[in-house]
Amino acid sequence: MKKNILVLGGKGKTGRRIVARLNELGHKVRVGSRSENPAFDWDKPADWPAVLEGMDSIYITYQPDLAVPGAKEAIEALTRVAKDQGVQKLVLLSGKGEVEAEACEQLVINSGLDYTIVRASWFSQNFSESFFLEPILHGHVALPQADTKVPYVDAEDIADVAVEALLDTKHNGQIYELTGSRLLTFREVTAEIANATGSELAFTAITLPEYTEMLTMHGVPEDYIWLINYLFVEVLDNENNQIISHDIEKVLGRKAKDFSDYVVETAATGVWNQPVEA
Ligand SMILES: NC(=O)c1ccc[n+]([C@@H]2O[C@H](COP(=O)([O-])OP(=O)(O)OC[C@H]3O[C@@H](n4cnc5c(N)ncnc54)[C@H](OP(=O)(O)O)[C@@H]3O)[C@@H](O)[C@H]2O)c1
Repeated sequence: MKKNILVLGGKGKTGRRIVARLNELGHKVRVGSRSENPAFDWDKPADWPAVLEGMDSIYITYQPDLAVPGAKEAIEALTRVAKDQGVQKLVLLSGKGEVEAEACEQLVINSGLDYTIVRASWFSQNFSESFFLEPILHGHVALPQADTKVPYVDAEDIADVAVEALLDTKHNGQIYELTGSRLLTFREVTAEIANATGSELAFTAITLPEYTEMLTMHGVPEDYIWLINYLFVEVLDNENNQIISHDIEKVLGRKAKDFSDYVVETAATGVWNQPVEA
């Protein structure tokens, strides 16, 4: 049966991949975005009922992160509107190892609606579609926690799992932890990308205060720096986040995409060889 599905963050890293898959399967997809009509904006709750009206299921990505102050209130308010509008199922994208995100998960779990929680590790696509792209383009990556190991997960795998969760009731009530199949340090990631692009790419290990100072000098907003600081301290510096999960294989019946495959495919798009202003 074809479903009406709202994808919040439908133009973002995971959302747009989910929208593409659902459209291909013939479902009626509403893209949740500030630039759609009706528009969805986390800062404009009065507009939410119109966006949620007539939807069977919702994929939720919160902006910028479930750990930020105000996220809990927003998720709680969204679950109420979803219930009022007759939505049956919520799939929440959450972050692995974030206590605050787990509090938001609980709100979804206790909403009275069907749910699946998709708790992801750091995305591989952070290096090509997010905050780590720019330093790569400038040929010099300087990051703290140089030797911390991270099981990067591919946004394509997250999208595949989320689509399964949206469409099949057997995933109701499940919490899936999504990681890649290998642990990599920033140093190793930088070397893999340099190798695949054939470009000069230097890596320098710096301290967290040096990193946040550098971001301040580049005019990065204070609340974003707070979030970066939080992610490096709470998420990266937590050994539990280095545990590899096999939930991707459990849901999809195939192995998680390997980081090297992501690097080779992404290098071929040319995204890491774009010209940049000095
Ligand atoms: N990156 C990671 O490594 C990682 C790991 C685990 C969990 N997560 C979680 O993943 C979530 C983000 O998902 P994603 O990476 O798929 O999305 P994304 O690429 O970060 O962005 C999704 C969309 O959010 C929209 N947006 C920004 N501000 C908004 C606002 N005020 N109201 C409504 N929409 C807004 C933008 O769309 P429009 O401009 O179209 O409105 C953007 O395209 C976060 O909650 C994060 O904590 C991320």
